[in-house]
Amino acid sequence: SQSTGTTEPAQSSGTAKPGAAKEVRAEAERRRTFAVISHPDAGKSTLTEALALHAKVISEAGAVHGKAGRKSTVSDWMEMEKARGISVSSTALQFNYTRSDVAGTDDEVVNVVNLVDTPGHSDFSEDTYRVLTAVDAAVMLIDAAKGLEPQTLKLFQVCRHRGIPVVTVINKWDRPGRTPLELLDEIDERIGLMPTPLFWPVGIAGDFRGLLRRGEDGDAAEYIKFTRTAGGAKIAPEEHLSPAEALALEGDTWVEAAEESELLSSNGQDHDQELFLAGQTSPVIFASAMLNFGVRQILDTLVTLAPPPRARLAIDETAREVDDPFSAVVFKVQAGMDTAHRDRLAFMRVVSGVFERGMVVTHAQTGKPFATKYALTVFGRERSTVENAYPGDVVGLVNATALAPGHTLYIDKKVEFPPIPSFAPEHFAILRAESASKYKQFRKAVDQLDSEGVVQILRNDVRGDASPVMAAVGPMQFEVVAARMKAEYNVDPKIEHLGYSLARRTDAASADELNRQRGVEVFTRSDGVLLALVSDKWRLQYILKELPELTLEPLVAAT
Ligand code: G4P
Repeated sequence: SQSTGTTEPAQSSGTAKPGAAKEVRAEAERRRTFAVISHPDAGKSTLTEALALHAKVISEAGAVHGKAGRKSTVSDWMEMEKARGISVSSTALQFNYTRSDVAGTDDEVVNVVNLVDTPGHSDFSEDTYRVLTAVDAAVMLIDAAKGLEPQTLKLFQVCRHRGIPVVTVINKWDRPGRTPLELLDEIDERIGLMPTPLFWPVGIAGDFRGLLRRGEDGDAAEYIKFTRTAGGAKIAPEEHLSPAEALALEGDTWVEAAEESELLSSNGQDHDQELFLAGQTSPVIFASAMLNFGVRQILDTLVTLAPPPRARLAIDETAREVDDPFSAVVFKVQAGMDTAHRDRLAFMRVVSGVFERGMVVTHAQTGKPFATKYALTVFGRERSTVENAYPGDVVGLVNATALAPGHTLYIDKKVEFPPIPSFAPEHFAILRAESASKYKQFRKAVDQLDSEGVVQILRNDVRGDASPVMAAVGPMQFEVVAARMKAEYNVDPKIEHLGYSLARRTDAASADELNRQRGVEVFTRSDGVLLALVSDKWRLQYILKELPELTLEPLVAAT
């Protein structure tokens, strides 16, 4: 059969054609797949829009993610989803970008940039984390006035855990904020990431004149002076001036920037590619997404420094190279986008080979064939058919009932990638069927939502099957469960908050003793792992101290 990848000559096998492996390597090499991690309101939507503007995907800012009064596509979609209680979709914006300094020269490279959107909701869910398994780099977007905020920190921890290199962008420099050195200190001290600015602001926060490009050893290489455009709707014109010209034009403001840049160097804060890729340092850019200042520099940095897609380790520890036959990892499943059609979209990130629409691939978890006739790219409401995709690209698959986050798809050469770690839940609730008559439907819905990873489902003998416990990273996941059960299974479950706030992994030997403790209850998760839910951290500390022989291991925590 096609799905097992026999040697039918006509079958597209990703790399079977002569020269195909080389082509895949070249396509992978020019790709950059990243996400923006930020706290709500730091300017992620504005930046996405500005990036699209610079990549010429749109001609005027405001077209991609509009706020009230602007042309809008994505925001409408998000509103619609929010109204329905369904989590905001992960979408991927793909665009071509040519670095400005090589455009038109013999060295010109057209990069393909995939910006994978993290859900923009103020609530948190596992989806947000899973997106980060699909990217090769992250942009940490910080509000110049607020510095590091809680959600940025959480997401940063996930990047660190996964070894994803991080580029830092300090946004809203057009508004009064902290001093640049203060902001860098905060990053260094609170998260232990050494900031190594590539560009330094000329003018304090609120008086953003331009950027000093730092050369080797922190010398001022040039001054990039920006000019505002009306409402920031168009790319801000840039003037490139020599340090002498900058001095003549900006006087003390320039001198101060140049001195600070030298200070950074004496402190060892210069970019080091190896340390950046190892997740120990982070290149920093100051920007105003709203005014389109520094946005081109962000794109140039990403295509120059961020890593292209690389081989990924399979469960058996063998590496799936980018030019191996097609393989991909599902990182998100989205349902309920169109309830009338029971629409289910699975988003996969291509790991190796060429994806061609219509290909029949194998679903590693079931060994069953999966037809990819309906492959899409999805960005906001916009969907278009995908014909081909390469390592690093994100493709949405329609009618993907069997696919769940972490699943592998492949052709020809069997591979299975490790599951996506589930993050430590912090919110717990009991789920009850509304009536006994609906129990069968209820059961089916619970199993489905569990397998999709919408929430983690926990059970124990005391509570029984009719009232399993849901565990989630963010409470909005519960609303998604309720909304989907109603829309897709016609059951109206009751959800009751449970007074636990943390979970620890335990074992059978410790379970009985733990169940005897006040404020503790042991459950089995559907993957078989035993979890002890604990009321609060003081209770946990008490037990750890009094009963040190019990197993209570932290889960992969994002906090
Ligand atoms: P988010 O997706 O991260 O939640 O942030 P979003 O882009 O929606 O931006 C949040 C607010 O910050 C918006 O203002 C936006 O205009 C503003 N903003 C984003 N980048 C910059 C910047 O570089 N400089 C300044 N001064 N403001 C910025 P809002 O009042 O909530 O919306 P709107 O009325 O401006 O549309």
